[in-house]
Amino acid sequence: MADLITDIDVLEHTHTHEASCEVKTTPNNLQVGQRKLYIESYGCQMNFSDSEIVASIMNINGFGTTSSPEDADLIFLNTCAIRDKAEQTVRNRLVHLNAMKKKKPTLMIGVLGCMAERLKTKLLEEEKVVDLVVGPDAYRDLPRLVSEVDNGDRAVNVILSREETYADITPVRLNSNGITAFISIMRGCDNMCSFCVVPFTRGRERSRDPQSIVQEAKDLFAQGYKEVTLLGQNVDSYKWGGTEDKKETEKAEKEGKEVINFANLLEMVALVSPELRVRFSTSHPKDITDEVLYTMAKYENICKYIHLPVQSGNTRVLELMNRTYTREWYINRIDAIRRILGEDCGISSDMITGFCTETEEEHKDTLTLMEYVKYDFSYMFFYSERPGTLAARKFADDIPDDVKKRRLNEVIALQTQHSAERNRRDMGKIHKVLVEGASKRSEDFLQGRNSANKVVVFPRKNYQKGQYVNVLVKEATAATLIGEIID
Ligand code: SAH
Ligand code: SF4
Ligand code: F3S
Repeated sequence: MADLITDIDVLEHTHTHEASCEVKTTPNNLQVGQRKLYIESYGCQMNFSDSEIVASIMNINGFGTTSSPEDADLIFLNTCAIRDKAEQTVRNRLVHLNAMKKKKPTLMIGVLGCMAERLKTKLLEEEKVVDLVVGPDAYRDLPRLVSEVDNGDRAVNVILSREETYADITPVRLNSNGITAFISIMRGCDNMCSFCVVPFTRGRERSRDPQSIVQEAKDLFAQGYKEVTLLGQNVDSYKWGGTEDKKETEKAEKEGKEVINFANLLEMVALVSPELRVRFSTSHPKDITDEVLYTMAKYENICKYIHLPVQSGNTRVLELMNRTYTREWYINRIDAIRRILGEDCGISSDMITGFCTETEEEHKDTLTLMEYVKYDFSYMFFYSERPGTLAARKFADDIPDDVKKRRLNEVIALQTQHSAERNRRDMGKIHKVLVEGASKRSEDFLQGRNSANKVVVFPRKNYQKGQYVNVLVKEATAATLIGEIID
């Protein structure tokens, strides 16, 4: 029996969106003699979650994972294509890997994920250092593709699927704090927002078998996890009627068969244990129903936080974006959240400035909508044209870069004010916090999040990660709440 080596693993360049950049490592198991894989993840939580599926598939097939690229026999970049900048980051990384490969010619380089899917074989032509190009639905094929490269070929599989959900694969939890985990509940997106590349890189929407989701949540809870985040590009359109195929499910629903919708699924996961927190992301304003909001209200362990990306506050721009809702519709959904879940429910958003033909007045509509909602937090971007999308084909990218960026700065400045304002409301109140570990600044402090997803920092005392504590918040910045545990 080979010795077990610990201290492994994988680098992360993500947490929620491509905008943030985090680097984390975690121990894992690697057996002596195994070839070593190093994975770097870019982009959204879905990609992060996919890397855990990739690690699992590779582990089953005899590969270990390592925390240092220098030690690796294989390096996979799990890439994002959402904005041009995301792709440039990967291109720069490949230049660096090229230098590494010159010193170690046996090193295998794979590009996975959304950029692989978007560029397909073109990526092999453009980036000579790449041996392997694999799209998000082809990860089961990785061991075979790796052996093709072993035989001296370069390998590609970018076939998208209508059924693949990797439901039977138990993810290897990478960079885990042992307390919070992601569960992917659906894949792909059928929405066709005109600016967005995701429908092209991730294929058609499909939902995962709810029993496998509930089982994964139960297994995590049994291992000591205390929080799961249900992931999908549009979780509110989750629907299961006995098959992954969405068309079949819709047919079954029309025939009067019972289907499981997102509200039903949320309830099923909430019932795993009152001690297991449930979060979800992302909600689409057109699909979030009062039924979902009432389900959230009914269960204390479903966190009172909704990421509800608006993109723009102007109805004409929303129409050009093909978001299929108006400013008024969006405001109605915000009012429903406040009515059913109260003022303390956390709400965050994504915003794009300088979309095709956006006027100054229309940009101001985004600012006034922000004033109305007072988001706790937002991810904010200027528009980046993506080849092949509806917008790239139909509209000119006609807002000058300096205007896009000036509008973005206005949105960011307003959001910073609102975050500070919303956090000040939390002062003097007691918050139930799930402890996630030591605070980033000091071992003497712990940190966790409240139900509304806000980071709370407090003196450690004798508490440990995984515990629920009541914290009286005494100070607040735009990013963090600071307080003390009330025993
Ligand atoms: N499925 C999620 C969003 C996924 S992409 C949703 O529908 O809300 C994350 C965010 O990236 C989007 O909400 C959008 O704000 C931003 N984004 C997507 N395409 C973009 C582009 N071409 N330029 C700039 N930002 C973009
Ligand atoms: Fe992209 Fe729209 Fe789908 Fe979100 S809902 S992934 S923005 S197409
Ligand atoms: Fe990026 Fe793909 Fe996610 S394009 S944001 S990694 S779905």
